[in-house]
Amino acid sequence: MSAPGKPPKPPARPAKVSLLRYGRMFRRDILSAQPARLYRAWMAEFRTPFFRSFMCNDPKLVDLVLQQRPDDFPKSDRVREGLAPLLGNSVFITNGETWKRQRRIIDPAFEGGRLRDTFPAMWEAGVAAVTRLGAVADGRALEIEAETSHIAADVIFRTLFSIPIEDETAGAVFAKFRDHQRASPVMNLGALLPLPRWFPRFHSRQTRQTARDIRALITELTAARMAEIEAGKAPDDLATKIMTTPDPQSGKCFDTEEMVDQVAIFFLAGHETSASALSWALYLLAMFPEWQDRVAAEAKAHIDPEKIYFSTLSKLKTSRDVFRETMRLYPPVPMMVREAVKCEHFRDRDVPQGSQIVLSPWHLHRHERLWQNPDAFDPARFGTENGKACLRNAYMPFSRGQRVCPGAGFAMAEGPLLLSLLVRAFRFELVKGREAMPVAHLTVRGKDGIWLALRPRA
Ligand code: HEM
Repeated sequence: MSAPGKPPKPPARPAKVSLLRYGRMFRRDILSAQPARLYRAWMAEFRTPFFRSFMCNDPKLVDLVLQQRPDDFPKSDRVREGLAPLLGNSVFITNGETWKRQRRIIDPAFEGGRLRDTFPAMWEAGVAAVTRLGAVADGRALEIEAETSHIAADVIFRTLFSIPIEDETAGAVFAKFRDHQRASPVMNLGALLPLPRWFPRFHSRQTRQTARDIRALITELTAARMAEIEAGKAPDDLATKIMTTPDPQSGKCFDTEEMVDQVAIFFLAGHETSASALSWALYLLAMFPEWQDRVAAEAKAHIDPEKIYFSTLSKLKTSRDVFRETMRLYPPVPMMVREAVKCEHFRDRDVPQGSQIVLSPWHLHRHERLWQNPDAFDPARFGTENGKACLRNAYMPFSRGQRVCPGAGFAMAEGPLLLSLLVRAFRFELVKGREAMPVAHLTVRGKDGIWLALRPRA
């Protein structure tokens, strides 16, 4: 159980367990499968008959792997095999030259200036969410993750393709995606275990089918957009921007098939993560109503419900700090895995070629030797010396270095904006007997969902 008054934290496993038991726990949930010592360790080694794995919490090692020598620590091919049915050759799983070319085309669409153009679509998704939730804001218990997934998917469709989630194809992608998550072992982070190369990769028939269905729907959207671009009638949104941006080196744009791979990852990475962060933020605000009142007061002071101003964003400072602190405690992507392409020497230990290097925002963000009061919810910490120092070297919800999330700026606009719009309209309350407990699926979710009750805010 979590400490009273502290945000929920999964229980740690006993210090010593058999490999078999560890494997079983790991598959169920990576977070509770770890021993408590990882919250204090600078590095930890796991040996199994199949692979060796090194978790690095030392900020210098994290910096080395992600920022100084990222090409020596690419994403593992085996992780890629796990995700390929859905993601094809998307930027999330490629390496080397292919990956570099894809980032050269994608990154300009997410640059600061473009965010201003994308902002009205985010705002409209937020206003639509307030209208939708108004119908159920009567104190009944609501599973809020389902709602935030809906909102975040709406944001992605509106910003990428200028269509709301009510659009038939957009709605079908969203629904199929839920089926895919239920059917797919890959959607459990534990399934990203680097199995030995001889081990057959198993994708159930249903997983392959739902992945095909999702890709067929995305192909429909992408091909239609390609036709609009060719006819000179395409809306000026993220899809058009990405599809008309040539690689500055080769001069070539994505073809339809390559764009389908990228849309699949934008949808997956862009809505699962934001939905996770938003639902934990609302849960924390329900746990700490004094912070909720501060976010509401700020939103009332600065949001003009009739007009959309991009400049409003910079005024939502409390909301931003709450969102940041939420992602410290519940980083939507709790762990990332890389592979050492050659032998390394980390903290006086040999790291053999092919070892898995695990970077864990989950542990780094709660590290007892780095953060003051690491398990407490304190959005004001980012104004302190410790908070500022940790923000620089022990905070990475979006990863770091060349493979940093291209959607980081987008997410840091979307999250605080949605939080403010929702809390401005509703009071969020905990539901008795429905305390949330984090588990790692593809992102950090509530073990039995995240339950809250909403009432209109006076
Ligand atoms: C709160 C929201 C988000 C969080 C916490 C988040 C976090 C991350 C993290 C940690 C990675 C690196 C994963 C790894 O290296 O293994 C990543 C990669 C990525 N994210 Fe995000 N993300 C968020 C939102 C978004 C959005 C809104 C988009 C796009 C619309 C997006 C698109 C991507 C893509 C394409 C990659 C792969 C980049 C590459 O490998 O070069 N993300 N994200």
